[in-house]
Amino acid sequence: MDLARLALSLETRLSRKLTASRAAHSRSVAELAAALCSSNDLQPQRGLVAGLGHDLCKEMGRPTQEHLASIYQSFSGRSLEGDAILGSAALHGPAAAGLLLSEFGCQEEDILEAIALHTLGGPEMGDLAKIVYAADKLEPGRAHVDPLFREACLAMPPDGLFYAVLASTIEWLRSEGLPIAETSFALYGAATSGGIEA
Ligand SMILES: [Fe+2]
Ligand SMILES: [Fe+2]
Repeated sequence: MDLARLALSLETRLSRKLTASRAAHSRSVAELAAALCSSNDLQPQRGLVAGLGHDLCKEMGRPTQEHLASIYQSFSGRSLEGDAILGSAALHGPAAAGLLLSEFGCQEEDILEAIALHTLGGPEMGDLAKIVYAADKLEPGRAHVDPLFREACLAMPPDGLFYAVLASTIEWLRSEGLPIAETSFALYGAATSGGIEA
């Protein structure tokens, strides 16, 4: 697939369909994900496309998101019910993966996975998905992120990067008294119990 052309189409879509602040966030995630791909021997365009596409459905109505998510579910065979994504705000991830499939003809599995799992993470994520998850939480527009923490994270390989950002997200949710998704908590538990090397 011509990823440069796809990135241009996504750019146009961002400008037309998303609020200015969400479009700016998406571009910032895309830039950071592309840079992280470069430093980890992945094609930067994969991070760019995933970043540009990851929040495309966030402002859509729930029925449309459910429909698009079901397209991704059929393509990937990934269960969305099992990890409670269907009932949560994280639905916009799989929905955006469905949008890339159905409207942009993108069948690049790693890119679709990265988009689908960007909010909560998921089991057996590839490096691109780990990078995009982290870029979404660390992009420079996230004013609450400590610059030293960001800098330290960006020097880590995808596994360390992902678990550092996951741990910090969970700590923040706890400190704010906000609910923690089961999927994210299970990944965090596996890392801290030694099941996964953080
Ligand atoms: Fe998102
Ligand atoms: Fe985002």
